[in-house]
Parts: sequence; structure tokens; C-alpha cells
Amino acid sequence: MNTTFANQVEFTITRNTQPLPEEKRNAILQNPGFGKHFTDHMATIDWTREQGWHDARIVPYGPLQLDPASSVLHYAQEIFEGLKAYRHADGSIWTFRPEANAQRFQLSARRLAMPELPVELFIESLKQLISIDQAWVPSAPETSAYIRPFMIANESFLGVRPAERAAYHVIVSPAGSYFANGMQPVSIWLSSGLSRAGKGGTGEAKCGGNYAASLLPQTEASANGCSQVLFLDAEEHTYLEELGGMNIFLVRKDGTLLTPKTSGSILKGITRASLLQLAEDMGLKIEERRIALQEWIDGVNSGEITEVFACGTAAVIAPICTLKSKTFTVGNENAPAGEVTVALRKKLTDIQYGREEDTHNWLTRLA
Ligand code: PLP
Ligand code: COI
Repeated sequence: MNTTFANQVEFTITRNTQPLPEEKRNAILQNPGFGKHFTDHMATIDWTREQGWHDARIVPYGPLQLDPASSVLHYAQEIFEGLKAYRHADGSIWTFRPEANAQRFQLSARRLAMPELPVELFIESLKQLISIDQAWVPSAPETSAYIRPFMIANESFLGVRPAERAAYHVIVSPAGSYFANGMQPVSIWLSSGLSRAGKGGTGEAKCGGNYAASLLPQTEASANGCSQVLFLDAEEHTYLEELGGMNIFLVRKDGTLLTPKTSGSILKGITRASLLQLAEDMGLKIEERRIALQEWIDGVNSGEITEVFACGTAAVIAPICTLKSKTFTVGNENAPAGEVTVALRKKLTDIQYGREEDTHNWLTRLA
């Protein structure tokens, strides 16, 4: 894809003349929940085949104008990212491995035949937006601002081919815990026959369509009292892949960390990659390979598997107490979060919130 881009891109800034009043903003920051409230501004950069990336700007947050024939509305040419801004004790605001998100955004763009946004421009858009909306980044423990960059194809054309126009946007939402009960272990539901992604599909890309495909099984999960759905591989329905919005890890009683190898159909989580690095730093053994569902069931029943957790930017690390399906339940609903789960979560969040030295240079200052 042509990604021509004028090197000296300047963001023009149009300030919101009606930002949310401070008292209302503070009330939201007291209890932000997840993904419900949005800041006063957003970032936008346009792309056309002829002009490449142009017209970078920060504008008041508000509705997009889309022609009803826009390709995204018909053929789902859309990709997104998710990362967080963390306020440190000295008031400064940082984000975690944004270049990894920028690179994954490029990978997703390639898979969806969309233009690739240069990494520096992706990071600059975050800096510009968080600088202007920095009062929206909460400071209470474990809170953050969730940053959602996304790109839509907005050419008005119904032919099925890659669009020649696209728009990149970034919005920001103050965030508390993704799950209502924080670190309380959650139950997950085994999707009965429905898949999220298959070989050669779009599983490795972060595109809206993957999430649309996860909603029906997710509804089944919720109806059965579970907070997430677990997908197995689409071909054999035998091996663990990931949850609707998180990667998965098992911990053996000797402390070894097991996680499915990313094979093209699993999203390569940045939290996943970071935890593998931290586990190595902590001297834990790691196995990245195919993991059969039966290995989990037998391991939990025999005591060989002692902890299971899910991980991702939004949820950080969520301990999993039980796996349920139409025919069986594995694990114990009253089990507390495991030792390794808690230690890894602490290590990761201590780095993100600036409480521990960032030895891997994972943090980038935004404001
Ligand atoms: N898997 C899926 C399907 C996701 O949506 C996410 C969340 O982004 C993850 C895994 C975890 O990825 P990351 O750690 O980069 O947030
Ligand atoms: C994330 O963790 O950033 C996700 O994208 C998960 C979900 C909110 C889609």
C-alpha cells in the first residue's frame, strides 16, 4: 500500500471550547469503569491513495461524518489498537511499549489491505492527544487512560476492493478495572463449536471483524455466568488459542509458564510478550507451544496445573478460577489468585506505574 507521508507532519490543534466542567470530569475519574466516558479531544489523520497521510489534527471529540456508502460500513475494513496512559507519582504520564502497538497496527493494516501508518506518527498522535487531555488521566491506584487508536476505510464505493481513502483516529477513555471485581478470579466459558479465527484468516490482526465473530459465543458465556469466552483452534477444536479479548497462560506447580504459541490465528499480545520476558527475568521456565484442552483439564484435576490467568492491556492480568462448558467444569470457583499470577501482575504494573525501574526501556513519556 502506498504510505507516502510528508515527513514534517504538524498536528493542527482545535481546542474544544466546551470541555466537560472540572467537577463533572472529576466525578467520572472517581469511578471511570471501562470504555464509558471519553475525553474532550480526539486525533485524526486522513489518508488517500494520491496524497498519502495528511491533515493531522487534534479536534474536539465528537461524531464522525461518514457517507453511508463508506467501505467500513459494508465490508468491515477497520483495525484498532489498545494501550494505556499511566500517571506516575510525580504527575508525569507514560505509556507502555507504544512502538509494539504501532507495529501491530501496521501488521493489521497489511492484512486488511489498508495503508500503514508510520510508527513515529502513531506515537506522535498519542503524545499530542494525551498532552491536551492530560487532566483526564486519573491518578488513583490501578487506574489509567485507555487509548484507542483505530482506522476506518471511508471511501464511498460499494465495489469490493481496498478503499482508496481511510481515516485514522485516536480516542481516549479514563479506565478503572476492566472486570467489575478487579483481581477477583473469573470463570470462563468454552466456546461450543464456534471459532474466532482460522488458518489464513485474520486472527493475528486486530480488526473489528474478529470481535464481531466473538460476540455470539461471548453472549453464551455471559448467559452461563462467565466473563469471557475461550476459543480452541478452528481445525481440530483441540488446542487452546485465546479468549475473546485476552491471551491465556497456565502455570505448572513447578512454576513453569505455559502459553499457546502464536500461530497466525492468535493475537500477539504485548502483555503476553512482556510477561514472557518478566518471567524469564524472574527465572521461571517458559513453554510456548500447542496446548491441548485436555492437558488443562487433566493438569487441574491432578494438581499439576496450579494457576490459570488471562492477560491483555485492558484487563492486565485476570486470574481464572474455573473453565465451564455445556458438559464439564474444571477448577474451583472459590480459588484465590495464584502466587505466580500475583507476582507477575505486580512486576508488570510496578513498571507501568513507575514504581520499579524500567530495565527494558518499555516506557515512553506522553506528558
Ligand atoms: N487477544 C485479543 C483477542 C485481544 O483483543 C487482546 C487485547 O488487545 C489481547 C489478546 C491482548 O493483547 P495486548 O496484551 O497487546 O493488549
Ligand atoms: C485490549 O486489551 O486492549 C483489548 O483490545 C481488549 C478488548 C477491550 C477489545
